[in-house]
Amino acid sequence: MLHVHDLTVRVPGGPLVDGVSFAVAPGERVGVVGASGAGKSQLVAALLGLTPPGPTVSGSVRVEGTEVVGASAAAWRPLRGRVTALVAQDPGTALDPLTRVGRQVALPLRAQGVARGEAHTRAWALLAEVGLDGLARRYPAQLSGGQRQRVALALALVGAPRLLVADEPTSALDVTVQAGVLDLLDRVTGPGLAALLLVTHDLAVATRLCSRLLVLEGGRLVADGPVADVLADPRLADVVAASRALAVHR
Ligand SMILES: Nc1ncnc2c1ncn2[C@@H]1O[C@H](COP(=O)(O)OP(=O)(O)OP(=O)(O)O)[C@@H](O)[C@H]1O
Ligand SMILES: [Mg+2]
Repeated sequence: MLHVHDLTVRVPGGPLVDGVSFAVAPGERVGVVGASGAGKSQLVAALLGLTPPGPTVSGSVRVEGTEVVGASAAAWRPLRGRVTALVAQDPGTALDPLTRVGRQVALPLRAQGVARGEAHTRAWALLAEVGLDGLARRYPAQLSGGQRQRVALALALVGAPRLLVADEPTSALDVTVQAGVLDLLDRVTGPGLAALLLVTHDLAVATRLCSRLLVLEGGRLVADGPVADVLADPRLADVVAASRALAVHR
């Protein structure tokens, strides 16, 4: 599904992501942990061609066989939303402030040729699934941060992507809502369904959803293995503790 080889994101001061290689199989669920500033969001952005202007991205990322490092917007178009989708750490930028959220979730379906009524029915149902029943007519500014995060999740899911990349999708949510979103992620990803690459500080979340864990430290991939093995590795205790401390802090 995803093959990453020697992926590097560089700024003049040095690499933010440093020679990272790993692969994700169809339906596989992989967690990404590491201290704040370890390069998790930079990694995710580089994978999805979303690195903002400035840093240089090198190495190889193949999405279902298609090389995407350096790919044009046109080359990304058939992939974005339908093969890969992102739930960003800061959902603010994913949403259009001037469009009601129900309509925003329906738009990708309309673009795929789904009839207006059907698109709206599906969009509203998806919003209900993420716990936003009855809020489809609101504008993003009329929702809380956690509610906006869930709209972003609905937007990511609406194209039925085969790889869902989620950067801290639940860290802004209270515990009850968090549980609902995790249940939803659990239902829509996994063997036979979408693959999941999940950045999280919450090791309980990683343990529950993921079979494999990647550990980043200073932009480098310092571990990649079954969740239980990585969490039990004494050489990784510091890095894992840094993730855990952050989860408590937040
Ligand atoms: N354009 C840039 N130029 C220089 N440094 C940058 C740039 N963008 C990000 N960084 C730095 O890159 C490092 C990695 O940032 P990144 O956002 O990937 O961290 P993270 O692991 O996602 O952290 P968090 O857990 O806090 O979200 C940070 O030290 C950050 O300050
Ligand atoms: Mg981040």
